[in-house]
Amino acid sequence: MKVLIVGGGGREHAIAEAVARSSKVTKLYCAPGNAGIAELAECVPITPMEFDKIVAFAKDNAIDLTIVGMDDPLVGGLVDELEKAGLRAFGPRKNAAILEGSKAFSKDLMKKYGIPTASYETFDSAEKALEYLESAKMPIVLKADGLALGKGVLICKNLEEAKAGVKEIMEDHKFGSAGNHMVIEEFMTGREVSVLSFVDGSTYKLMTSAQDHKRAGDGDTGLNTGGMGTFSPSPFYTKEVDEYCREHIYGKTVEAMKAEGREFKGIIYFGLMLTEDGPKVLEYNARFGDPEAQVILPRLKSDLIDICNACIDGTLDDQEVEFEDNAAVCVVLASDGYPVSYEKGKEITGLENFKDKDGYYCFHAGTKFDGDRIVTNGGRVLGVTAKGENLKAARTNAYKATEWVAFENKYMRHDIGKAIDDANE
Ligand code: AMP
Ligand code: GLY
Repeated sequence: MKVLIVGGGGREHAIAEAVARSSKVTKLYCAPGNAGIAELAECVPITPMEFDKIVAFAKDNAIDLTIVGMDDPLVGGLVDELEKAGLRAFGPRKNAAILEGSKAFSKDLMKKYGIPTASYETFDSAEKALEYLESAKMPIVLKADGLALGKGVLICKNLEEAKAGVKEIMEDHKFGSAGNHMVIEEFMTGREVSVLSFVDGSTYKLMTSAQDHKRAGDGDTGLNTGGMGTFSPSPFYTKEVDEYCREHIYGKTVEAMKAEGREFKGIIYFGLMLTEDGPKVLEYNARFGDPEAQVILPRLKSDLIDICNACIDGTLDDQEVEFEDNAAVCVVLASDGYPVSYEKGKEITGLENFKDKDGYYCFHAGTKFDGDRIVTNGGRVLGVTAKGENLKAARTNAYKATEWVAFENKYMRHDIGKAIDDANE
C-alpha cells in the first residue's frame, strides 16, 4: 500500500513511525513532513491547506490511503475533496470535523444529548456577552468559537479580566474569524485527562489515556502553549472514571453525531475534566493530539493501517486496538522564549544517539535541513519520548534521553509527569 500523511509536526512524525511499522505499507509520503519524518517517508513540498495539490498528488501517485493529521485541513474539508476524487482518506468529513471546528456546535450538541460538560451560553455580539458577564459567577471561561491553535481559551478571574477578554476575542479579533462567535462557560476544577478513540461512524474503540502539560513553565506557570509534554497512561483515569465515561460520554457522542446526520469516522479526542460532580467534557478534537500522539502511538501494538481502514469501512467492531502494558513520557524540547518570541536556525546535534535504541524516540516538530545539517525551525523543536515499565521509569528514561540532543537555546519543562508522584502519595 502507498500511504500519504498530511502534516509536518511531531504528531505526524509519530503517525509516520506507527505507519512505517505496518507490513502492508510499501511506500510512505508526507506533505510537507519535516527533517525527522524524511527518514521514514518521502517528503513532498505541499502544505496541508493546498487541497488541489494534495488531491492531484494522491491521484498521480496512486495513493491507497491518505491520513490527515491536522485540524485545519479536516475542518476545511480535505477528506471530502479526496473522497470526491475517488480516493480513500482517514479522518472526519467536514460536516463531522465541526465537532472540533466550532465550540458552539459541540456545546450545543452536548446540551441536546445530555453529555456532561460545563454550563455555557453562546454569543454573536460583544454587547450581549458583556451584558451577560455583569451577573455571571467568576472565575469564568471565554472561548473563541473556531480553531485558534489551541489558544482561543481565556480563563478570567474577575469581571474586569472577562470584559477585556470579550474585547480581545470579539472586537480586536485576536483569534481572527474564530472570534466572530464565542462561548462563555462555567469554570471547572479538577484533573484533566485526554482519552482518544478510533471511530467508524457507529463503533468506537478507546486508545490508552494521556495527559498534556499546556503551560510553558514548571509547576504549570506561564503562558499556554501547544503542549510541553505528555504522559500515558494517566493514573487518574481509573476504572470508575472509564465506566462513567463509557456510559455518559463516548458512545453518546458518536450516536449524537450520527443522529445529526454527521457520521463521524476518524479520531475523537475527548478532553475531560474530572470534577467533583464526575467527569465532564472540556473539549473535543477531531484528530490525534500533539504531543499526545507521541506517547500513545509508540505504545500501540495493533497495526495502525488496519485500524484506519476499519474506521473507513465501518468494521471497527472486528478490529483489535491493543496497547502495550507499559508507559511512555514525552518531553518537548522548545526554543527558549516560546511561545512568545524565539530564534530559529540553531544546529541540532546528537540526533544519531536515538538510532537503534529500543523504546526511545526523537520526534521532530520544528526542524529543517540546512544543507547537511538539521536546524531548529520553530518554537517546539523536538519531542523526546521514552517508554518504561511504569510511568516513573518512563519519566526517568525520557529525561535521560533529553540530554542526548543539543541545540543553542534549548528549553524544556522539568516536571512532565510529576503528577504521577502526586498520584502515588
Ligand atoms: P480547550 O481548548 O477547550 O480544551 O481549553 C484549553 C484549556 O483551558 C483546557 O485544557 C483547560 O485547562 C482550560 N479550560 C477550558 N475550559 C475550561 C473550563 N470550563 N473550566 C476550567 N478550565 C477550562
Ligand atoms: N495537545 C492538545 C491538542 O493537540 O489539542
